[in-house]
Amino acid sequence: MPKLVRRTPSDLLAGLAAPVEKLLARAATVAQSHGATLWLVGGVVRDLFLGLPVERDIDLVVEGDAVALAQDLAVALAGRVVAAHDAFGTATVEINGRHIAHNARNAIFLDLAGARREIYPHPAALPVVQTASIAEDLARRDFSINAVVLELHADGSSLQPARLLDPFGGQHDLEAGVLRVLHSASFVDDPTRILRGLRLAARLDLVVEPHTETFLEQALERKLLEETSSDRIRTELCLVFDEPRPSQVLRLADRWGLTSLIFPALRWSERIEQAVVRFENEMANAAHDSTLHAQVYLGLLTYDLSTEEREILIARYRLPNESAWLLRDVGAVQTVLEQLSPTLRSSEIDTILRPFGPAALWTVSYAESSPVSAIVQRYLLELRPIALSLDGHALQRLGVLPGPQLGQLLRALRAARLDGLVTSQAEEETWVREQMRQPGAGGEA
Ligand code: CTP
Repeated sequence: MPKLVRRTPSDLLAGLAAPVEKLLARAATVAQSHGATLWLVGGVVRDLFLGLPVERDIDLVVEGDAVALAQDLAVALAGRVVAAHDAFGTATVEINGRHIAHNARNAIFLDLAGARREIYPHPAALPVVQTASIAEDLARRDFSINAVVLELHADGSSLQPARLLDPFGGQHDLEAGVLRVLHSASFVDDPTRILRGLRLAARLDLVVEPHTETFLEQALERKLLEETSSDRIRTELCLVFDEPRPSQVLRLADRWGLTSLIFPALRWSERIEQAVVRFENEMANAAHDSTLHAQVYLGLLTYDLSTEEREILIARYRLPNESAWLLRDVGAVQTVLEQLSPTLRSSEIDTILRPFGPAALWTVSYAESSPVSAIVQRYLLELRPIALSLDGHALQRLGVLPGPQLGQLLRALRAARLDGLVTSQAEEETWVREQMRQPGAGGEA
């Protein structure tokens, strides 16, 4: 159950880091000069209640013209408008981190949206948007814990405690650990809320309130997720892999009966669960680049799919190239695993595993048990990074003629290095000279 550490407007404002507070104070001043009211909403407010640092895009509701305000904010905050949709009354302003704090590296994005009501022409459709009051704006939101707003009111360069609107008891629900929709048609209007709710429930350890659970079951029975565009579902699914503990989300997805709705051949089996948990536990110490994490999760989740199922999944969700290649690589690497054995020479392991990308190999190392897992890990950590001291140019300086033989010699040299037959640049050079003395070697006379 989440623990609330801040409650009142002044408490919440105190949770903002000084540079963020300064930024929001300037934004509020510009809004005030427009005669507009600016409200902080969504995940930032939730995180402030929980005492978490604000390290995310900042969602703002504007009672006024959000697009015009975004343009003035960009000027006042030395940022730029990176998106603006007059029809939806939304705009995003990017502010370079350096304008906020000397040591800030990442840009901050302010997402502005005019206060609106949304009318859904039919289930799962994109809504028709109309300007409305902040109260109506809150009523069209997904969950009570996301329907809390904090007014940003500036006095000089600092924010002053102002109104906190929480008409649906979001603060109470957050404290009680409850996920509650605001009305019975919430999942019908926007079935992606099922996946948003899943992520929130898993992340914050929330219990689904009984009415909400009924609405959720009804939405699933009506197959509303299946009717939602696969692009929207893919976007939501990608967010799962950015969660602090994706395994919790995937486990809960299975309990909610979502796994096979997302793709009928997907199974959250005990083996996959163990592999994902192992990956999460070892992630902090593992040597892999964090940019691979989402790919490894995807690789593990889809580990048991057949080649045909992989292609159907790629097509159905129009997966980006990087993910499509990962899925294919993970399928392909599984077909060579039986060739791996602890008695192989390092160069033989290299020949078998070199064609595959690192994310696919890390996936295998977590999905398989020893000895395969140990061999793949050793390959990734010890063998793959080994680089020769000599390159093609160096070989030519030693008298090797350019052409296919040069490539063969480099591969053979790498094999010798991997197998420990040569261990230094000097030994590599000696090895090359010896090879050139062999009859038929492609060297200069
Ligand atoms: N929202 C909504 N229905 C949606 C998407 C968003 O009502 N389908 C509202 C919610 O009030 C949400 C806010 O828009 O809090 C901002 O959405 P978003 O930035 O996507 O998520 P956060 O709530 O900020 O949560 P997180 O980034 O932690 O997932």
